[in-house]
Amino acid sequence: MSIRRFESSARMSQAVVANGVVYLAGQVADDTTADVEGQTRQVLAEIDRLLALVGTDKRRILSANIYLADIGDFAAMNRAWEAWVASDAKPARATIEAKLAAPKYRVEVQVTALAGEASSATPADVLETIMLRSSATKLVEPAPDRAQLETLLRAAVRAPDHGRLAPWRFAVLQGEARARLGEAMAEVLRQRTPDVAAEVLDGERRKALRAPVVIAVAVSPQPLPKIPEVEQIAAVAAGIENLILAAHALGFGSMWKTGPAAYNPIVNRALGFEPTDRILGFVYLGTAVTRAPVRAAEIDAVTRWL
Ligand SMILES: Cc1cc2nc3c(=O)[nH]c(=O)nc-3n(C[C@H](O)[C@H](O)[C@H](O)COP(=O)(O)O)c2cc1C
Repeated sequence: MSIRRFESSARMSQAVVANGVVYLAGQVADDTTADVEGQTRQVLAEIDRLLALVGTDKRRILSANIYLADIGDFAAMNRAWEAWVASDAKPARATIEAKLAAPKYRVEVQVTALAGEASSATPADVLETIMLRSSATKLVEPAPDRAQLETLLRAAVRAPDHGRLAPWRFAVLQGEARARLGEAMAEVLRQRTPDVAAEVLDGERRKALRAPVVIAVAVSPQPLPKIPEVEQIAAVAAGIENLILAAHALGFGSMWKTGPAAYNPIVNRALGFEPTDRILGFVYLGTAVTRAPVRAAEIDAVTRWL
């Protein structure tokens, strides 16, 4: 059984998922100038965000512990709580008065919830990894080390590959090497917008530094009548998803990005790809500080059962 930790800091994780159960850290308000009702509303909104992050929601909360700095605030806290709690899915709850971490905090709430259908219904870790993946919106060190990066690349080349052509090409950019991509991205921008301001160019250069590791992935298509280019592109796209899922399975975050730089020969040259290679993505990798909420796996509108 795997244990998944989300938004981990030096001290703690904001959410931990194990065995189909989601444990959230105690939440306090950001804006502590608010009264207890306002603080409670903020706390409950943060709980909604964290539950969405791990693919569940407030209707699956099992229990809640509420800590009030002053039990005299019980009624005010309850106004915010009752406006928020799902009317058909109220959790077991306890409220006690307690000294909180700082006097500015009036209320702290900790909840335990059932994970979303996908993660609780499927015992296999691979399905859980697929269903709980979402893009990282901020990536920092630690990044996968050399051995882990090799594992990710091996996972990529295990994707289905019509004709076993091995159409994928990778450029792994770590540390200073990322500047090469940044410089090329700035050059592409300058080419597209010749009078672009220096600060904007600097911003473009810094984009390549947004994660500790960037893997540029390209397809090197061969002109074969039996295996059209679209199939070779599909194989490499499947390889990118394999790489991303392997990163998540190892506890790292990722973001697949493209943009005009992906389709410009300047970048091919800078990263050592052939002129005929086509970059399909820059995979940003590292430890996820923040992630996009897990999207609902909606199939009805896009599926016909024949
Ligand atoms: C081929 C491809 C190119 C993408 N390029 C970008 C990009 O340049 N910038 C971006 O913000 N998202 C880009 N995305 C989308 C994100 O990687 C992400 O998958 C999407 O926002 C959905 O969020 P999720 O991954 O959390 O489900 C791209 C996705 C694909 C498949």
